[in-house]
Amino acid sequence: MGNNPKNQDGVEQEPIVGEIPDDPLTGHAYDGIQEFDNPLPGWWKWMFIGSILFAFPYAAFYHGGGEGRTATERYDKALAENIRLQFAEIGELKMDRATVVKFLNEPNWLRVGKSVFKTNCVSCHGAEGGGLVGPNLTDEAYKNVKDIGDILHVLENGAAGGAMPAWKTRLSPNELVLAASYVASLRGTEVADGKPAEGRVIPPWPEAPPEEETSDEEANTDDETDDAASTGPKKAST
Ligand code: HEC
Repeated sequence: MGNNPKNQDGVEQEPIVGEIPDDPLTGHAYDGIQEFDNPLPGWWKWMFIGSILFAFPYAAFYHGGGEGRTATERYDKALAENIRLQFAEIGELKMDRATVVKFLNEPNWLRVGKSVFKTNCVSCHGAEGGGLVGPNLTDEAYKNVKDIGDILHVLENGAAGGAMPAWKTRLSPNELVLAASYVASLRGTEVADGKPAEGRVIPPWPEAPPEEETSDEEANTDDETDDAASTGPKKAST
């Protein structure tokens, strides 16, 4: 059978048994193994080439720095929009101690403070405030805080030479106040596996909101604060 293909050494190969495609052989054979010149189907190759070509405009569009194009950016934008809508309800808050105390007693607004915390603070203070790089915010001891108003000052100006960043220029006054109230609300929650207490144990937060509004509703929330305050030290002593 002089028709059998020859390998590189000129040795004639055994004929291949079974169904043999029409494709030509590539002409080389190693250890008796011959290779068909068997190209990928055209549609496959075009999909491959097409996906490479598609990648360039795709990368340029989504990673070229255009604003608001990635899903995360659109999400952040929607979130900010949402917060702005909510803020329309309370207007621009005063950045003072009384406002922090007031919102400590408004669970709905604390949720907004919580979302500010989740976005900006958990990287250093932990998801539940138990502390990572930053101190535990769920115990009764504080390093830079002696009074509830100090939380706002620490948020505005930072602490420990910037280890705790200043947020004054990065967050709106409303966000600062609500985040401060939320941080205050974490006190005494004593999350599991939080960092050991740092600093000094300070007196409880003021129990009653300042006498700006004294509706029945406010009176009810006062009671709740009383309860919270009385359970706080008990928890700490166990
Ligand atoms: C880059 C890390 C980092 C981020 C982000 C951060 N903090 Fe801090 N924070 C710290 C450190 C570190 C301290 C402790 C400073 C010190 O040792 O005096 C601290 C201290 C504090 C304190 C005072 C606690 C005390 O015991 O005196 C409060 C309140 C606080 N942070 C709230 C926040 C809030 C709210 C945010 C988000 C808006 C935030 N932090 C974001 C690192 C951070």
